[in-house]
Amino acid sequence: MTQLSVKHLLGIKDLNEQDIKLIFETADNFKTIINRPIKKVPSLRDITVANLFFENSTRTRVSFELAQKRLSADIVNFSSSSSSVSKGETLIDTVKNILSMKVDMVVMRHPSPGACVFLAKHIDATIINAGDGTHEHPTQALLDAYSIKETLGEVTGKKVVIVGDILHSRVALSNIYCLQKLGAEVMVCGPSTLIPKYIEQLGVKVEHNLRKALEWCDVANMLRIQMERQDIKYFPSLREYSMQYGLTLPMLEGIGKDITIMHPGPINRGVEITSEVADSDYSIILNQVENGVAIRMACMFLLASNQNS
Ligand code: CP
Repeated sequence: MTQLSVKHLLGIKDLNEQDIKLIFETADNFKTIINRPIKKVPSLRDITVANLFFENSTRTRVSFELAQKRLSADIVNFSSSSSSVSKGETLIDTVKNILSMKVDMVVMRHPSPGACVFLAKHIDATIINAGDGTHEHPTQALLDAYSIKETLGEVTGKKVVIVGDILHSRVALSNIYCLQKLGAEVMVCGPSTLIPKYIEQLGVKVEHNLRKALEWCDVANMLRIQMERQDIKYFPSLREYSMQYGLTLPMLEGIGKDITIMHPGPINRGVEITSEVADSDYSIILNQVENGVAIRMACMFLLASNQNS
């Protein structure tokens, strides 16, 4: 297979296993290229991409922009804080105005779940979801699974626990879809107030004890508590959360086996993970960030190829 089955990248739910494997194979090639002295290729030379960020981002935004520059695309960057959104302009009007300047592809982060799906129904450009509220963050899940494959040789058959604020996490949902499509077993771990009631219907195991979850897994993906999405108190205090679900080096070493530690960022050091763990040899956190560029290059290259076919 040389083409994706989708026109947009709205969520991992829409992809099949072949799509994900094609993205990984393409990312392998781009990873080789970006480690060469001359990192730039002309693959998106005639493509204009708008990066529309209606919500804060460090990693995703920089990673997409770097990926676009490595592919020689023309780029326009937009952030809602400095735009006419603050004057009351709607999402559709904002995007239609930008697209009238002949933009081919839109990378969008938005606080509302489904914002990218909505946009894809109303405009012709290719849409890439860079995180929509509590819904999906597909390129994060792809780079996470790619990093597991790179570290452990394969994803199939691996046991992955996602720890923390599952209820508010788009990373968790996209990871669950992606890992299951690649044949991994997935568990979620956290306080019951932060685990959605429907989660077992997705074929995911649930564990409330972090030590038991670590004993079960090959990989632990530690999530931060998303205070900005919490309108009520889900646990007594961050200190209490950290005592029950914060990953420390003595705990990890006490398990007595190699566990790969991941985190999508941003990290709250000392809450869900200590600095000792985040900066240890167990951690592949910076490998995830590095792989994000190659994965995003692959996604944009393959979607642009679909535009031309
Ligand atoms: N992982 C992630 O989405 O990080 P940012 O919010 O910094 O983009």
